Amino acid sequence: MPPELTESCASADEARECGATAVAHPNIALIKYWGKRDEELLIPYVDSLSMTLDVFPTTTTVRLTPTAEGDSVTLDGSPAVDGERERVVAFLNLVRTMAGRAEPAVVNTRNSVPTGAGLASSASGFAALALAGASAYGLDLDPTALSRLARRGSASASRSIFGGFAICHAGRGTGAEADLSAYAEPVAVADFAPALVIAVVNAGPKAVSSRAAMRRTVDTSPLYQAWAASSAVDLADMRVALRRGDLDAVGEIAERNALGMHATMLAARPPVRYFAPETMAVLDTVARLRADGFSAYATMDAGPNVKVLCHLGDTARIAAEIRRAVPDGTAVIAGPGAGARLRPRAEP
Ligand code: DP6
Repeated sequence: MPPELTESCASADEARECGATAVAHPNIALIKYWGKRDEELLIPYVDSLSMTLDVFPTTTTVRLTPTAEGDSVTLDGSPAVDGERERVVAFLNLVRTMAGRAEPAVVNTRNSVPTGAGLASSASGFAALALAGASAYGLDLDPTALSRLARRGSASASRSIFGGFAICHAGRGTGAEADLSAYAEPVAVADFAPALVIAVVNAGPKAVSSRAAMRRTVDTSPLYQAWAASSAVDLADMRVALRRGDLDAVGEIAERNALGMHATMLAARPPVRYFAPETMAVLDTVARLRADGFSAYATMDAGPNVKVLCHLGDTARIAAEIRRAVPDGTAVIAGPGAGARLRPRAEP
């Protein structure tokens, strides 16, 4: 369902009182975004395709504070620091420019997923901030425009505007043309609701941010261009597999795409390696489950955690096997979730 912007605040006075609260969920890419061709506008090199999850929501409130000296940003109850704060303030500046307004804001964000651990907190985070920020500053954006705005915070966030499956177009050209043509939209999938078992083997922040890692990969990895070309083929194959509701095909394509992405990083100079020993233990478990006849396929993002695509009916068994392989880890079961939405205002 498209997000509703009915809570827009038309005037500064109204906005001060109402603000807006949005909820968004992370998404996991089945065809990965890795590498930017424009670092300022966050224009990806490749198209990507994801499933929005029904777990780990981010809830963000943006309230305008016309008399304050600057923005105030709180993340999980503590003031946001350094890079985190700068990213949010830069994003608010963009929203203010679009809205032709200048008031500072108070931003309050609660993540239910560890931040910066390759569990897509920036996707849910900037999708929620885009929706709450646009609404608080009175911007009337359709879902496409909202996905373009979310992309400016984190390119994967453009996909979390939508529920279910979404594609993010890498767009074409440069400058304004690229900005206009790089957006996300839903992918229609008939009667297909796979599950993901998320193996959280290490919830700590990653050593290299995905932003730095993808820059290094594009700049130095001799494998990057080859992966980008093969990813276009993976995407076409994935769309067919999703239309057919063929979980084994979807899983095979997702796994090869993710492993290819990690291969580009391993070949970067210096290399970027997100695999931990526990990551390998989960990958071994997935291979064994498959040999035993289960439909189980792995995908990984910029971190050591593994997401296992499978049938809903197999999740309990797969989660149990993962816990056995990595006793200190946890396994969270997810399905397709809803897109970003505004939370109705509480009655006074
Ligand atoms: C590996 O969207 O976090 O999860 O645009 O620099 O904020 P920025 O990067 P981000 O990168 C996500 C990369 C990925 C793959 C994916 O989600 O498509």
